[in-house]
Amino acid sequence: MKLILLGPPGSGKGTQSRRICERYKVPQISTGEIFREAIRERTPLGLKAKTYINAGQLVPDQLVIDIIEDRISRQDCKNGFVLDGFPRTVGQAEALSKMANASGVFTISFQVNEDELVKRLSSRRTCKDCGTGYHLLFSPPKKEGKCDQCGGNLYQRDDDKPETIRKRLTVYKNQTAPVSEYYKKLGKLASVDGMGEVNKIFGLIEKAIEDLT
Ligand code: AP5
Repeated sequence: MKLILLGPPGSGKGTQSRRICERYKVPQISTGEIFREAIRERTPLGLKAKTYINAGQLVPDQLVIDIIEDRISRQDCKNGFVLDGFPRTVGQAEALSKMANASGVFTISFQVNEDELVKRLSSRRTCKDCGTGYHLLFSPPKKEGKCDQCGGNLYQRDDDKPETIRKRLTVYKNQTAPVSEYYKKLGKLASVDGMGEVNKIFGLIEKAIEDLT
């Protein structure tokens, strides 16, 4: 199964891709997470990406295309993968179509209204150690500031500040929304209502995967 999850910031791509990968036994490839790890480790990639990410802008296409081309050619992607956060421009989608291990990809696109996106992003917390995601209102940790799974410290992403959230939503509308059209024209797109309870949405995703494969 080679699946792309498309949707605006906060639409649940990370939350759902973790579940999909567990259920279908394929690796999750999150470009946002690859960049955040590089930033934490202060690598040259991290230094380049940080300025763009903290300003709510996209990292330049070629940087991210090279990363994905290398990542999906690895052995653990032989039976498929879930792309969370890529492609994000039509240029990235076109580049993906030319990659050796990308034939047969299909796309699920999440629909979530803007008020809900802002609510989700402004109270998101993530575990520094294992990456588990929380929401202070919808899915809070049992102990404040600590991960239920591993006890690690929870943090708020730098790009989840209100002004950066607004910028990211605008960038999504201008640069990423056209990617849906690209896959729709190819007949490789299913739209899923991303509003409501996480388990209910996962059920809709399972159904969409059945229909698309
Ligand atoms: P990235 O990390 O990909 O961020 P994003 O697309 O903005 O998406 P988010 O991670 O913010 O949201 P999500 O949809 O995963 O939602 P989540 O499940 O966490 O990218 C970050 C940056 O990196 C970009 O801005 C860009 O600069 C750069 N970048 C990355 N990829 C790139 C690329 N290909 N090209 C160029 N630049 C790139 O959910 C959010 C919150 O809501 C959580 O708290 C969660 O618990 C909660 N939640 C989830 N589902 C529900 C639900 N159903 N009900 C209630 N709460 C829910």
